[in-house]
Amino acid sequence: KKVMVSGIQPSGDLHLGNYLGPLRHWPDMIEEFDCYFFLADQHTITVRQDPAQLRRRTLMLLANYIACGLDPEKCVLFIQSHVPAHSQLAWVLDCYTMFGELSRMTQFKDKSAKNADNINAGLFTYPALMAADILLYQPDFVPVGEDQKQHVELCRNVAERFDGIYGDVLKVPEPYIAKVGARIMSLNQPESKMSKSMPEGCVFLMEKPEDILRKFKRAVTDSDTERCVRFAPQEKPGVSNLIQIYAAAVGRSFEAVEAEFEGKGYGAFKSAVGEAVVETLRPIREETERLLADKGYLEGVYRAGAEKASYIAEKTLRKVYKKVGFLPR
Ligand code: TYM
Repeated sequence: KKVMVSGIQPSGDLHLGNYLGPLRHWPDMIEEFDCYFFLADQHTITVRQDPAQLRRRTLMLLANYIACGLDPEKCVLFIQSHVPAHSQLAWVLDCYTMFGELSRMTQFKDKSAKNADNINAGLFTYPALMAADILLYQPDFVPVGEDQKQHVELCRNVAERFDGIYGDVLKVPEPYIAKVGARIMSLNQPESKMSKSMPEGCVFLMEKPEDILRKFKRAVTDSDTERCVRFAPQEKPGVSNLIQIYAAAVGRSFEAVEAEFEGKGYGAFKSAVGEAVVETLRPIREETERLLADKGYLEGVYRAGAEKASYIAEKTLRKVYKKVGFLPR
């Protein structure tokens, strides 16, 4: 069986970009692949977090995973910090990742420009930890959104470098990026990707329906003169983003969406997209709330997940330790 690994940071509440980009596809994958989905809590502390919030968000993200259809009986769900092999392999990979490579990461450049007062070493070496997250499970594919592609490429380079020295130790994985939804843009600034750092243009999974509808009503359409629902990301970024969201939410092609709204105004289109998103998210929100009321169940899920993940992760770690020459305990 092929193996898949991916994770999401519990640094903010889950948003529509996270859902429509990668997460929406994961429930299908668990039927076919051996899947490891984790909560990347260690990555979140590259920027300051409130500890109580981080705990709350971690548990909520686990509930979101399950509510989206990740059945813990069919895949491994765990919390990154519960499996120490992630940090342990990360240190080894730090020593096989080049300063120059890390300096070229666009996310590092963006984040350090935005957080000039806290450009810490973790923010810089973060992609090596991400490479460890992946390589420990020897996956074939890493399903992510477009913005993580560069990090997966770096992971491949590090694995190839390591294998170049020590032989076939680490499997070199492929990024797996969906065609529709891989880059959802902000509703009010459609030139930027949707992200929690711009909350007005970002739709959160747990948000109230009326707030979601309001955000879609205020979404920026384009100041072009044709006023027609047509997919053209360069000329019409706002409208094209809404087409993409609608297509992903209802599972239709761009052409079908264009045909559906032919001759209709932007106002009607925006309301329809808002409604479709509300209906897509409603069952997920309700199921998440139900799961959050049962903390005992969630604890059981992440404890069992950590155990299964550790078993596989430690095997890879032992191989790596042996290759580099660490004396076994
Ligand atoms: P994170 O937590 O920022 O995002 C989680 C996933 O959501 C995707 N994504 C988007 N997709 C489409 N449109 C958007 N606007 C959008 N915003 C985010 C991301 O591409 C990602 O797939 N470093 C990772 C977490 C991570 C990881 C890993 C992922 C840590 N280790 C190992 C895979 C494998 C991150 O910060 O994603």
